[in-house]
Amino acid sequence: MKEFPMITTIQQHVLQQQEELFPEARGIFSSLVSGISLATKAIGAQVRRAGLGDQLGAVGSTNVQGEEQQKLDVYANQMLLHCLGRRDAVAMLVSEENEEPVTFDRDHAGRYIVVFDPLDGSSNIDVNAPVGTIFSIFRRPETEDDPTLAVLQPGSRQVAAGYIVYGSSTIFVYTAGRGVFGFTLDPSVGAFVLAFENMKMPQQGKYYSVNEANVDAFPTAYREYLARIRNGGLGCEYSSRYVGSLVADFHRTLLKGGVFLYPPTAPHPQGKLRLMYEANPLAFIAEQAGGMATDGVRKITDIQPETIHQRTPLVIGSPVEMRAFEQCMKEAEAPAAAGR
Ligand code: AHG
Ligand code: MN
Ligand code: MN
Repeated sequence: MKEFPMITTIQQHVLQQQEELFPEARGIFSSLVSGISLATKAIGAQVRRAGLGDQLGAVGSTNVQGEEQQKLDVYANQMLLHCLGRRDAVAMLVSEENEEPVTFDRDHAGRYIVVFDPLDGSSNIDVNAPVGTIFSIFRRPETEDDPTLAVLQPGSRQVAAGYIVYGSSTIFVYTAGRGVFGFTLDPSVGAFVLAFENMKMPQQGKYYSVNEANVDAFPTAYREYLARIRNGGLGCEYSSRYVGSLVADFHRTLLKGGVFLYPPTAPHPQGKLRLMYEANPLAFIAEQAGGMATDGVRKITDIQPETIHQRTPLVIGSPVEMRAFEQCMKEAEAPAAAGR
């Protein structure tokens, strides 16, 4: 009989991982990933139907960030809150779309905190460009009863992190601290199936990714870095690619190498992207895949958050581009230091 290709679903993969990584998890961790998998299949189905029902356009309200909510932002958020809220392992859910953490009174059963951006790149929905969901999982600290303080953990304490990119295919990428794995949604079986084993970011890429419209407002060191990239200072030619959905720009950087930047500007000294549910999860994945992520001064995963929705500058990518960036930042500090 014809050999059927072995398929490994994300649930099977997480079960294998948790035997090794979280033996005490007793299936708890895999139930979280199942909740995210179920919610994102439903979100992907709505994204694919955008325009056929009432999915497009704005709701007419703004979120805690003061940003206009798209209907799919609200749908994605409700789906994740619903699918994860029913899992006993969840003590708390934190979302870009909710000002405060959503808590569940489950005593000791609730051991994990899930932080997420339910729909990333939502300004791209109406034009059929890729969008995504980003999540980060922490353990609930036994000794901290205040929900907000329990959430405010540095990225180095993430138990797992991942994203789902709703693009030409729907791909679920995650790490639990032992490598990065990618699963493609196979519509014929309705499951996320292992497609990318142990993903590693190339040492150097040929793309840099930044919103060039803001370049005049970037700090000098960032402008000099971009000029060095464009002038062949990193030893090869680069192209510029910017989708405007962080998940899509990061996924390309993970697969092809290069660098993504969302720098600070005078009006927005902390940049635009959020530390807890955009920068941290992608930084964990980048580090696990051999890349690096910084806010221009520190590793993203070393930052002790002060507020749930705080923003951070983000530079994330391959070792060659990241070391060159660090060099530019040092050179920018050198005259200032000399002048002190
Ligand atoms: P969100 O849709 O969750 O608010 O995120 C949008 C973010 C991110 O996806 C992207 O990298 C960035 O906004 C693009 O910002 P600009 O349009 O200012 O370049
Ligand atoms: Mn986002
Ligand atoms: Mn969002």
